[in-house]
Amino acid sequence: MENINLKDKYLNFFESKGHIVIPSAPVIPENDPTVLFNTAGMQPLVPYLKGEPHPEGKRLTDVQKCFRTNDLDEVGDKTHHTFFEMLGNWSLGDYFKKESIEWSFELLTKQLNIPVERLAVTVFKGNDIVPADTESAEMWKNQGIPEERIAFLDDNWWPNMESTGPCGPDTEIFYWRSDEEIPTRFDPENDNWVEIWNNVFMQYMHNQDGTFTPLKNKNVDTGMGVERVTAILEGKTDNYKSSIWKEIIAKIEEISGKKYDDKKYTKYMRIIADHIRAIVIILGDDARIMPSNKDQGYILRRLIRRTIRYAKQIDIQIDSNWEQELANIVINEYKEYYKELERNKEFILEALKNEKTKFNRTLEKGLREFEKITRNIEGNIIDKDLAFKLYDTYGFPIELTQELAHEQGYTVDIEGFKTKFEEHQEKSRAGSEQKFKGGLASTGEMETKYHTATHLLNAALKKVLGEHVHQRGSNITAERMRFDFTQNEKMTEEQKKQAEDLVNEYIQMAIPVERLEMSKEDAIKMGAECQFVERYPDIVTVYKIGDISLEICGGPHVSNTSELGVFKIKKEESSSAGVRRIKAVLS
Ligand code: SER
Repeated sequence: MENINLKDKYLNFFESKGHIVIPSAPVIPENDPTVLFNTAGMQPLVPYLKGEPHPEGKRLTDVQKCFRTNDLDEVGDKTHHTFFEMLGNWSLGDYFKKESIEWSFELLTKQLNIPVERLAVTVFKGNDIVPADTESAEMWKNQGIPEERIAFLDDNWWPNMESTGPCGPDTEIFYWRSDEEIPTRFDPENDNWVEIWNNVFMQYMHNQDGTFTPLKNKNVDTGMGVERVTAILEGKTDNYKSSIWKEIIAKIEEISGKKYDDKKYTKYMRIIADHIRAIVIILGDDARIMPSNKDQGYILRRLIRRTIRYAKQIDIQIDSNWEQELANIVINEYKEYYKELERNKEFILEALKNEKTKFNRTLEKGLREFEKITRNIEGNIIDKDLAFKLYDTYGFPIELTQELAHEQGYTVDIEGFKTKFEEHQEKSRAGSEQKFKGGLASTGEMETKYHTATHLLNAALKKVLGEHVHQRGSNITAERMRFDFTQNEKMTEEQKKQAEDLVNEYIQMAIPVERLEMSKEDAIKMGAECQFVERYPDIVTVYKIGDISLEICGGPHVSNTSELGVFKIKKEESSSAGVRRIKAVLS
């Protein structure tokens, strides 16, 4: 079958229907320290789905860079990826079900030439809150989808009935991916029916008290996974056999001298292909994430070190230029859609090379150490000290030790490792505070201080201006902080002075900053401040600063407010409608 450039077909089609093609938002979310990555096309659009006007208008379409850590360990089979692309089109209070369904049908059957016989759809069955979506079912019938291919299901609600935030009934489109005869009736239990597109009619807000209220607008939010649908359209059951991966797999074959179809190597090649793409996209983001031991940097480090380990498995010479060659292919293939890749090319290549060199220095020794460990231990548990040694001396992310252990029938004392790891962190934090006192501040420390100052400012503004103040964004560098918050009027000189004084008072009070972990539900019950309820995971970290501040936040933070120094507001200005911005510094 022909190669399909699904992205261009999709974006051009919706452009022809009056949509503006907007660039992908960064894969590292802006203004939201609580989630590490963007995981869906709609995620950066939440404020607009809630009713804020979008500067580009009411009809939008894009291809969004998405990354999901939860699939990391699954990568290696035919269908899982860490980084993937999601196509979507949105109506922000403009068209609704009719156009959405008609256009989906038109794109699938006319542009992508899918025979209607291969399609089936599901719609919402209804419950005591919202009636069955017979409207959508009728519209599908009018398009030519027969009744037996339309199923009413409980699950057709996005994201689900439990999550709070904007939501609504959805209609999902399925494709028959099999050479077997197509059954007349759609059966949701039959895996040959594969979901290819999800159209959400986002019209409700699921509030924290459990009630559903209508959103300001009736919106449409759709999502289509590029990797899956491309493979389907090209007639492949293995995603990695589609045109998307062709060049990269060919390069891996060339460098290693091994064949993808050789079952001994297929899994390793899939992992390398998936990870190198993810690595380039993360490094290419303007957020300039570097491999490190926390947050996105840690995920990045894991991806790179994992890639290197699997490259070794297929006999790639680690100190050759292989990773640069692979990264260049990804940059070239994706720069048309993600311009930042070109802009950040040098940074990508260099960061990747440095991390490789660093790990490669200890990899060999680490693997030998691992063998020695397993030769010498009694029983099948790798204890905390050995796991920590592999981490600390040989740079093995704990997950790598776990993988190696698992492959050979050992288990790792993870809890013990975590305890040891935390003790070690306490020590090195104490160490770096010492250094800081000696005048050797690293940027990380200043940024950490600004993070905590943000919480204090948020609390102070609530006191001075009122409880309507909520964070709408923040941006921190080693030199200053920027804080956006909900407030209509310009602040008076006196209000600015009051807020500044309050923050300095909190600093003077030398309040300990506590880090708590709890369920999102409990955090909200406790009244924790949060910016994007719907985006948090079920378990969240909450930072508590005495009874001054309680916020869901990913951190990092100082351990006592007294570490912050003197706080000064430099500027207060308008950011956008109903949002003011403060720039401030610590000295
Ligand atoms: N929000 C829906 C999804 O992620 C449609 O974009 O599937």
